[in-house]
Amino acid sequence: VTKIAVLLSGNGSNLQAFLDSTLRDNIALVISNKADAFGLQRAIDANIEHCFIDPKVFENREQFDAAIAEKLNKADIDLVILAGYMRILSDEFVAEFEGRMINIHPSLLPKYPGLNTHQRAIDAGDDTHGCSVHFVTPELDAGPVILQAKVPVFEGDDADELRARIQVQEHLIYPMVAQWFCQNRLSMQDGQAYLDGNVLPDAGYA
Ligand code: GAR
Repeated sequence: VTKIAVLLSGNGSNLQAFLDSTLRDNIALVISNKADAFGLQRAIDANIEHCFIDPKVFENREQFDAAIAEKLNKADIDLVILAGYMRILSDEFVAEFEGRMINIHPSLLPKYPGLNTHQRAIDAGDDTHGCSVHFVTPELDAGPVILQAKVPVFEGDDADELRARIQVQEHLIYPMVAQWFCQNRLSMQDGQAYLDGNVLPDAGYA
C-alpha cells in the first residue's frame, strides 16, 4: 500500500477530505510547522501519527527540511501531499521527493502563483478562478499541472466567498489525483506529468 504523508500549516480541510476518502488508510503521517494548526487536531481525531516540527529550533531552512525528510523517510512515505503547507521548500528537499510530492494551489496555474490568489483574481476582474494540483519542482508553484478545477467568479464576490467555492473543488480533485498516484497511473518525467503513460497538457487532465 502507498503510504502518504500530509504536510500542513493550518485548518487542514484538505487533510479532512483525504480522511473522508477511500485513501483514509493510506494516510500514515501528518506534519505541521505550526503548533496550533487545526489540521493536527484532525489527525488526533482520526488516530493518525502526527507531529509539530518547530522551524524556530533550526538554524536554517535546509536543516528544518532535513528534519522533515528524516521523519518522512523513517515512516517509509511514498507520496508527500502539501495541503496548505505555507513554507518555501529548500531545493534539496524538493530534489529528494521529486516525482512523489504534489501540491494544491488556489489558482488556475500558471496564473497567480504565490499568495492572495483570490483577491488578485477579483481585482483583475476574472470571471473564472480555480485550483490546480501539480507536482512540486524547485520553482514555486511552477511544477507540471496534473488536474485543475474551475469555478465562476460572481459579481460582488469577496475573497472568502471565492475561497470557499474553490475549496469545495479542492476537496474533490486532490484525493482523486492522489488516488491516481496510488494506482501507479501518475508520474513525472523530464518535468512533465504523465497519466496512464500519456503526457498531460499544460493545464493538466481535462
Ligand atoms: C487551500 O485552499 C490551498 O489551496 C491553499 O491553502 C489552503 C489550505 O486549506 N494553499 C496555498 O495557498 C499554497 N500556497 P486547508 O488547510 O483547509 O486544507
